[in-house]
Amino acid sequence: MKLLVTGGAGFIGSNFIRYLLKNYPSYQVINLDKLTYAGNLDNLSDIEKSSNYRFTKGDICDQKLVEEIVSEGINVIVNFAAETHVDRSLYDPKSFVNTNITGTQVLLESALKFKIKRYIQISTDEVYGSVEKGEFFTEGSKLLPNSPYSASKAGADLLVRSYFKTFKVPALITRSSNNYGPYQFPEKLIPLFITNALVDKELPVYGDGLYIRDWIYVEDNCKGIDLVLHKGKEGEVYNLGGGAEKTNLEITNLILQYLNKPSSLIKHVKDRPAHDRRYAMECKKAEKELGFKPGVGLEEGLKKTVEWYLTNRSWWEKVKSGEYLKYYEKHYLQREKV
Ligand code: NAD
Ligand code: DAU
Repeated sequence: MKLLVTGGAGFIGSNFIRYLLKNYPSYQVINLDKLTYAGNLDNLSDIEKSSNYRFTKGDICDQKLVEEIVSEGINVIVNFAAETHVDRSLYDPKSFVNTNITGTQVLLESALKFKIKRYIQISTDEVYGSVEKGEFFTEGSKLLPNSPYSASKAGADLLVRSYFKTFKVPALITRSSNNYGPYQFPEKLIPLFITNALVDKELPVYGDGLYIRDWIYVEDNCKGIDLVLHKGKEGEVYNLGGGAEKTNLEITNLILQYLNKPSSLIKHVKDRPAHDRRYAMECKKAEKELGFKPGVGLEEGLKKTVEWYLTNRSWWEKVKSGEYLKYYEKHYLQREKV
């Protein structure tokens, strides 16, 4: 099998490529990534010389380049490439529309033109919007996105659906909950708070900190994507959750506990606009049809993640310098304290 994995230099994409090469040594993988601020080839340094792996720097919106690659006999496309941070989508929605919607359409068009065997769109639980306590989103729930990020992901999902319905492109969609684990860019809650706490910097908790997310260890998501890729039914959507709902303050306190740092590092800051209160999905479909079950519990996964950031300090110190730091200081550190 010859796969085009897009966005493979990011967090989940790099974990997925490592997972694929380990579990399917006969597969060939081409990684197409634009290397935005979130793309980092250090994430793949241990496998960059593998004979069945190749990296190409480029944009999924570049139709000519995408067609050149897909025409090389690609059977499968797995699309991770995206602008992914909700807070950034508040400052620069256009880049989210470009990559997440236009980029997806370019990939779908190539999938159609070159009659690929399978197209996997990596989507998110955020397309469903926020859900009340006691309720759960299913694959049939309405799409009610609340940020430019989630709206662009929902737009992409609808395009995928339309290419399946109209042109019979063999497409499938995964919607996972919040991932965490090694190589996550330290702008997202867990890696930001671990790396800040390690240098005794404040942990900016938005609003009351009682927002709820369902957390999935990244390797469990990779396993779920593997199942969808090999066993999923064309045209279907599969929710992949971790079954581990926590408030942001609960996550923050666990991180402080594992690092033996004081709770005085917590600073409540101004809330994110249109902040979704709770994400929670029912994942019975993936369990029943594909045998999906997350294997890593939240506490075990969080301990492993903390350990990874402790032993890979040079990785995140490099990432947290330069352009990232300038952006972070401009937009986040100036948030008013509440
Ligand atoms: P990330 O931000 O770590 O990585 C995104 C990658 O895409 C980067 O390597 C970046 O360089 C690349 N990229 C961006 N624009 C591109 C373009 N135009 N062309 C080619 N490459 C481009 O993201 P992530 O957290 O690994 O998320 C991967 C996918 O999973 C995304 O589609 C995201 O919406 C989805 N997802 C993420 C989570 C999560 O918790 N992180 C949860 C559910 C779904
Ligand atoms: O649910 C899946 C989604 O999870 C993915 O589709 C997105 O790509 C990914 O970024 C993530 O979105 P969230 O907005 O849930 O993740 P984030 O890490 O930005 O925030 C998690 C929660 O923590 C959220 O309630 C906001 C809060 N938060 C976040 C940051 C960065 C804080 O309180 N302080 C912070 O500094």
